[in-house]
Amino acid sequence: MRSAKTRNYLAAMDIQVWESRMPRRVDSSPAGRAVDQAQRGNVNAVWDRLAETVASCTRCELAQTRTRTVFGTGDRKATWMFVGEAPGAEEDRRGLPFVGRAGRLLDAMLSAMGMQREDVYIANVLKCRPPNNRDPLGVEVGSCEPYLHQQVELVEPRIIIALGRFAAQSLLRTTQSIGKLRGQVFPYRETGIPLLVTYHPAYLLRNPLDKRKAWEDLCRAKTLLEAS
Ligand code: URA
Repeated sequence: MRSAKTRNYLAAMDIQVWESRMPRRVDSSPAGRAVDQAQRGNVNAVWDRLAETVASCTRCELAQTRTRTVFGTGDRKATWMFVGEAPGAEEDRRGLPFVGRAGRLLDAMLSAMGMQREDVYIANVLKCRPPNNRDPLGVEVGSCEPYLHQQVELVEPRIIIALGRFAAQSLLRTTQSIGKLRGQVFPYRETGIPLLVTYHPAYLLRNPLDKRKAWEDLCRAKTLLEAS
């Protein structure tokens, strides 16, 4: 029997839910734990350096108009990584990704899959807000995407979900339409991590009938994870 809260999330998505997420495999022997701890210390230092670099970045002109950089949030060892386009007004104000209306729908989508935002890693292609939410420029993507690439390498997710046309085209270095990209599994560059494309939550707010297709995309990703 599902709780009222879960039923509300499902209603928001017009969908049926699946159950829990897959457990992580860990080496729980004393030696394994010691190695794990040392590695985690190093990795945390790399994360801290990367976060500091992004916070003080002046690689493009967005540095002059942003309020705060928006680095990314969530489990740094997440199985799932979600990538959006760029911060909006609320994200720019708070320094966190997907905390406006679109973010609330993303939270509902995650809940419908039995996850919370703390369970996944969420980042954007751009770390700074383009003024008036205009489309990111090529030069901005070129300056910023190495940060995202490093985040992917650090998280080592088992699956990446590109949210919307812009994230999909940037991550896959393609100009193909989202209609063509949805439904396929791509390797994310040399990492080979499987990447799937779905609609951006902001698009889904404007086109609620497509929520069902987004749900199908997430189910496809889940099935892929379970099979791997
Ligand atoms: N849209 C995005 O693509 N990213 C955010 O963080 C917020 C809205």
